[in-house]
Amino acid sequence: MNPMDVVFELFEELPRQGPGSAEATRRALACVPDLPDDAVILDAGCGTGAQTLVLAQGTKGRVLAVDQHESFVAKLTQQAADAGLHERILPLRADMTRLPFPEGCFDLIWSEGAIYTIGLRTGLKGWRRLLKPRGSLVFSELSWLVDAPPAEAAAFWSTAYPAMQTVERNRAIALEEGYRVVTQFQLPDEGWWQSYYEPMLVRLPVLRERYASDPVALQLLAEQEREIDIYRRYSQSFGYVFYVLQRQNDRVWRTSGIHRRVVGFEETN
Ligand SMILES: C[S@@+](CC[C@H](N)C(=O)[O-])C[C@H]1O[C@@H](n2cnc3c(N)ncnc32)[C@H](O)[C@@H]1O
Repeated sequence: MNPMDVVFELFEELPRQGPGSAEATRRALACVPDLPDDAVILDAGCGTGAQTLVLAQGTKGRVLAVDQHESFVAKLTQQAADAGLHERILPLRADMTRLPFPEGCFDLIWSEGAIYTIGLRTGLKGWRRLLKPRGSLVFSELSWLVDAPPAEAAAFWSTAYPAMQTVERNRAIALEEGYRVVTQFQLPDEGWWQSYYEPMLVRLPVLRERYASDPVALQLLAEQEREIDIYRRYSQSFGYVFYVLQRQNDRVWRTSGIHRRVVGFEETN
């Protein structure tokens, strides 16, 4: 058996595969500028699609929901049908680093708790060209809320997510990659517990019993429990942050000091 099976078994049964909430999705959606009524939206790394359903309910547009894990996509297909949204939600199994879409085709790209899997810069760079000229990108990302986090939290995340940055640094990276930062806000505490850690705490003992003779699976489950413990004790120092960005006009971006510093002014003239 593949040791990662236990991870998928754990996550498939949860209402969502990362921290978040319908309220937070709606709040971020309300901040998106210039969104047309018939918006074409990409939900990148949709998981089983908790936020996909909210996006479809909150707009009149079409949502293309992409994930590389087959059973997540299948679950979303079923949920979209159950909610009567199958005509406006199009689930697709695909790798979000190699999306088969033409340039400039999306009004909005959404990615809750998933951009980290491909790297923040990779996501920002690759998705920018898929956006229409005034298109927006909304993503949520685990971020440091303080400059000097407690040693135990820093040690845990230095292994679990070494690329984690502060909110200020993520804003700066967004500017460097050709976006304007419309706003950002922190996911409230309930968004970690209600649809994520609480159901996970119910599920963990069941899986521990099922995988009792598999030390690798038990280790993976123990790491999840440790993450919950770290969040419980150090949630003042890190959190999930929603970033609402709008694609910067190419000419403005290219002639900005930021672009000169990042790519070299000569290359763009
Ligand atoms: C932490 S989960 C978040 C899922 C969902 N957005 C949510 O908030 O519940 C990250 C998701 O990204 C997907 N993923 C990771 N790498 C991917 C890739 N290269 N292409 C497409 N999906 C990917 C995983 O399968 C997983 O469903």
